Amino acid sequence: MSQRIPRRTFLEFLGAGTIGFALAPSLLSSCRQAVTNDQTVSKIMGIDPSSEDRVVLAPGLDYQVLVSWNDPISKQDRFGFNNDYTAFIPDADNPRTGLLWVNHEYVHPMFVSQYTEGEKTKEQVDEEMYHVGGSIIRIQQGEDGQWVLVEGAPENRRINGHTMIPFNWPEAIQGSSEAMGTLANCSGGVTPWGTILTCEENYDQFYGERNLETGEWDGTEAHLGWTNYYQNPPEHYGWVVEIDPKTGKGQKHVALGRCSHECATMHQLADGRVVVYTGDDANDECLYKYISSKPGSLAEGTLYVANIEEGRWISLNWEEQAVLQENFQSQTEVLTYLRKAARLVGASQLDRPEDIEIDPITGDVLVALTNNKPKENYFGSILKLAETEGKHDALQFQADTYLAGGSETGFACPDNMAFDPAGNLWFTSDMSGSAMNKGVYAPFKNNGLFVVPRSGEQAGEVIQIASAPSDAEFTGPFFVPDGNTLFLSVQHPGETSSDLNNLSSNWPLGGTEMPRPSVIAIRGTALDTFLG
Ligand code: FEO
Ligand code: CA
Ligand code: CA
Ligand code: CA
Repeated sequence: MSQRIPRRTFLEFLGAGTIGFALAPSLLSSCRQAVTNDQTVSKIMGIDPSSEDRVVLAPGLDYQVLVSWNDPISKQDRFGFNNDYTAFIPDADNPRTGLLWVNHEYVHPMFVSQYTEGEKTKEQVDEEMYHVGGSIIRIQQGEDGQWVLVEGAPENRRINGHTMIPFNWPEAIQGSSEAMGTLANCSGGVTPWGTILTCEENYDQFYGERNLETGEWDGTEAHLGWTNYYQNPPEHYGWVVEIDPKTGKGQKHVALGRCSHECATMHQLADGRVVVYTGDDANDECLYKYISSKPGSLAEGTLYVANIEEGRWISLNWEEQAVLQENFQSQTEVLTYLRKAARLVGASQLDRPEDIEIDPITGDVLVALTNNKPKENYFGSILKLAETEGKHDALQFQADTYLAGGSETGFACPDNMAFDPAGNLWFTSDMSGSAMNKGVYAPFKNNGLFVVPRSGEQAGEVIQIASAPSDAEFTGPFFVPDGNTLFLSVQHPGETSSDLNNLSSNWPLGGTEMPRPSVIAIRGTALDTFLG
């Protein structure tokens, strides 16, 4: 790591009230100058990589554990396992209270159902099914700035592996108009109308996958043993699911296709139509864009897939593509077996597209490409797409690498991203628990949270702001509207523990306690200063 940019370094950030989401670049320049002249520039310090079993934060930042796995959230419900995406929807009349949606991606049977070996009981499977999906919790911020879960609030509920969810599509999917549960909920997005998009990523772990040509169900992939009790079709998973956090009602959006969706990032056009970017997080899989044909519709529209080399979006509309008509019987089949369709139309195969964010100032689309180990891409990169004339419904774009992981930049395997209200880019890293602190990943130590300042003398540098506990990954960074709090998931601490008596992490309770995935709230003067 000797060639890396020094980690322990001061950054200059802008003072209060300087940049807003809506300001044009020309206005930003004059704001910067005004701030410099007023000498209100302040500083924040980054951290070195750490292998400690705790959350390490940059000076001037602090955190609280907001909610942990198995915490009661109502008389009926408990918080799920392996929290990932978070999204805060503040009340219209009070931004200090609102609903927090949290994804629950997958289970570690040793912790969740105390499974060790042999055949799981139905009770163990049901317990595991309960701990995936998502949680809706009401939270509020007190006068002291601390956030609390409002236990028993009427909105508090779980969406889980048993919750029946209809498909938003005129045709049945594998013979049914609804699916049992949502699972593998990795990252997501929010809609302009205040609902949540939660994305089903590695669904094959739960109910396997079926080969389109042979119809064979490859049950070996469904290693959790759920299929011993629930023979749910694989085709019912791998969708983008919309949840109304006020009611808990959900729908699976077939029009956005079926794959290992990492996220769904929505942009609303001036005429009310919506564009949704979504990536398929697997080696050599693709990047997609949906454009609705009607305002706000997630059923009527066209799905496209990216050819990065040619800078164009290719239609996956069965009626427009002879090659799709030759290989599929219907649009429903194209959308259900999206990977095969993408290859047939000439899509680019990417290095695991993870989170996607739209730069609030330039409109550029950033895509985290986390890694592709078989192709010896160990550190990943962030790809930048500039849509033609900045129009998100354009069918041409220019693509460039925005940031490359590695020793020069001090990060590896970018995953979730978020822009703060001042337009600084924050992102997390996802080196897998089994690879972390070893081999090529050793210098990076534990997974971290990083920021790329938008302005100031170190604009464009990569600064580590936080380090995660042992085996854990930070996921789901989400800023409240005024930026005074960053919600962050701490997922899978201690996941490499060999048994309950040999734990590789005891976070957050310490001692000999079992690790508990949790959502933390990060605040502090450094954050306030940073955001302006
Ligand atoms: Fe669940 Fe692609 O990370
Ligand atoms: Ca992820
Ligand atoms: Ca994000
Ligand atoms: Ca990941």
